[in-house]
Amino acid sequence: MDSDRLVSFGFEKVTEKEKARRVMQHFDCIAYRYDIANTVTSFGMHYIWKRQAVRHLDLKKGERVLDVCGGTGDLAVLIERAVGQHGRVVLSDLNYAMVQQGRYKPTNSAVRRKITYVQSDAQQMAFRSASFDAVIAGFGLRNLVNMEAGLKEIHRLLRPGGRFVCLEFSRPSHAWFRKLYDIYSFQVMPCISQLILGSGKPFLYLSESIRLFPGPDEFSSILADAGFRDVTYSLLTDGIAAVHKGRK
Ligand SMILES: C[S@@+](CC[C@H](N)C(=O)[O-])C[C@H]1O[C@@H](n2cnc3c(N)ncnc32)[C@H](O)[C@@H]1O
Repeated sequence: MDSDRLVSFGFEKVTEKEKARRVMQHFDCIAYRYDIANTVTSFGMHYIWKRQAVRHLDLKKGERVLDVCGGTGDLAVLIERAVGQHGRVVLSDLNYAMVQQGRYKPTNSAVRRKITYVQSDAQQMAFRSASFDAVIAGFGLRNLVNMEAGLKEIHRLLRPGGRFVCLEFSRPSHAWFRKLYDIYSFQVMPCISQLILGSGKPFLYLSESIRLFPGPDEFSSILADAGFRDVTYSLLTDGIAAVHKGRK
């Protein structure tokens, strides 16, 4: 980690080390209510977006799949069902509290028990190169100190021809909807966060980091620079979220 390089934590500029510390603290604080907060603030839409993202992975029975920044495991559960008993699903996440929260969740507990859980930094993972048929990252890359390093690492872990899908928040395409979404994100969401988590700050970080994330065309170029080919994207709910996919 470069101790002098400044990176964004929301709209604030901080050192890489400080961002890593704050991201960890952020997820430590929200882990116990992460799922409910997500469901309330997205009106349940995140479940639909996740199903769409997994469909884009085009999974086959028996495949080996990695869910990077997997958090409480919604994507991993969907993937586990798709690859069946001969497949293998690994959920990797840096935050212990988030992983534990998902691992022992009562819903889908039988499926959750089949998933392999690894606590690991997405920028440097201890898996052998080319060991996965597909990798997915849902709402995670925004939080990395060095997203390009994370993408290169994902590329390394895929077998040649392997697929990568990234589900991330983006920005609505229509100006009027964007305006409405900005009001909702910066004025309503922090209030909901206050009610659910006892503080508005976590959702302020969420809204700010979403605004700073590259737009879909720029992110496609970043994926191409990291070595992915056939990069395409689809916008979900007018662009509130976007699914990018590419191949190694
Ligand atoms: C917004 S949550 C998304 C969780 C899940 N993928 C989902 O879609 O619900 C982001 C996750 O990224 C994880 N994360 C943040 N920085 C990370 C890093 N450097 N390496 C691995 N995971 C990281 C957090 O711990 C958190 O669980």
